[in-house]
Amino acid sequence: MERIGGQGDGVGSLDGRPVYVPATVPGDRLSVRIVSTKGDGLAGEAIELLAAGPDRVEPPCPHFGPCGGCALQQLRDETYAEWKAGLLREALAKRGLRETVLKPLARVAPGSRRRVRFAAGTRGRQVTFGFHQRDSHAVVDIEHCLLLLPALDRLIGPLRSGLEGMLAPGGHAALEATTTEAGIDLLIEQPGNPPDTAMRTRLAALADRLDLARVSWGRPAELPEPIILRRPPAITFGGVAVALPPGAFLQPSREGEALLLAEAQAALEGAERIADLFAGCGSFSLPLSKAAKVHAVEGDKAATDALQAAVKRANIGHRLTVERRDLERAALQPVELKRFDALLFDPPRSGAKAQAEALARGGPPLVVAVSCSPASFARDARILVDGGYRLDWARPVDQFPWSAHLEIVARFSR
Ligand SMILES: C[S@@+](CC[C@H](N)C(=O)[O-])C[C@H]1O[C@@H](n2cnc3c(N)ncnc32)[C@H](O)[C@@H]1O
Repeated sequence: MERIGGQGDGVGSLDGRPVYVPATVPGDRLSVRIVSTKGDGLAGEAIELLAAGPDRVEPPCPHFGPCGGCALQQLRDETYAEWKAGLLREALAKRGLRETVLKPLARVAPGSRRRVRFAAGTRGRQVTFGFHQRDSHAVVDIEHCLLLLPALDRLIGPLRSGLEGMLAPGGHAALEATTTEAGIDLLIEQPGNPPDTAMRTRLAALADRLDLARVSWGRPAELPEPIILRRPPAITFGGVAVALPPGAFLQPSREGEALLLAEAQAALEGAERIADLFAGCGSFSLPLSKAAKVHAVEGDKAATDALQAAVKRANIGHRLTVERRDLERAALQPVELKRFDALLFDPPRSGAKAQAEALARGGPPLVVAVSCSPASFARDARILVDGGYRLDWARPVDQFPWSAHLEIVARFSR
């Protein structure tokens, strides 16, 4: 194998075409079975490791390999960190932004994830519980996950046994668990009918047994319904408690959130009127509103309702206003942007193309971008730079250890 590819697979070559083989490292010599085509090359499966590359280490998790949760536990840590930071460097280079000042990779340690999406399935009458296999809907049964906070890791066994008898043969579900200040908030996502009375009784017993704060149920992509509320789940941002809607977006760890916030606060120092776009439940808006007037814009109704209610309870409406708006269809335009001296945006993986284009036509002197996709970040950065912004620096943040995902925070000015 010659290098690590963008999705974390080792990459070798066959007749000049790249061959992607999961869980391998540069310098490995392997016999490989070609299983399919993949992008510009082929996907392979390791049959036998003939000689290990110099950067190969023993993966710390016994589930590594079959479990699709992690892609890179077999790689020496220093090499992994270099590769991760390189994802941002390469994405920027592809957009002609090779000269960007890159701050060193900031890292969040494993064992700190406060939010997780488990997969549950069935094998005969038995429940399988854990994570999906790579590129598959099959569920890999796991006992522990090294990425999770202990309170979430401890749930794995009890949730698996709790689902016995609740999941019909052939059935499947996703279980999203979030650690909040009131305890665990659990969302069960499943196709089909809502739970009947008997099922609700069983879920209530499960909530009691595991001391869950809340259990909600919903069909995928539909608004979830709270079923059992034992304590209202809340998270505090900048000293203000927000009542969390079921399934609400949260940065995956407190540490990652704090890293991103610290960079954003330093970059925005001195700004007096800030727009926080794609604001979620206010993880940036609320802390930023201590030093500036903030206008939070977000598309999700449950999130804007939660933030608005928190603002009202804390009586800080003079410092923080909230607007619900679809920023893809209706980006803030130059005439609206005039009232801000700084702007922060933190879009979903697809990025903020429409908003970047509007900023390029006329935006505030300072822009901070937070992103979970090097590719869409680099695209949006190119739009801003072509519109007259300077990309002052970008910082890669490893919020998702052992995966190919990377978070970025960056400052633009003009
Ligand atoms: C990566 S999250 C960031 C949330 C928040 N800044 C945080 O740190 O918790 C992206 C947010 O963008 C919102 N969003 C997605 N598409 C949107 C759109 N078209 N218009 C407005 N908001 C959108 C999502 O609901 C989500 O809250």
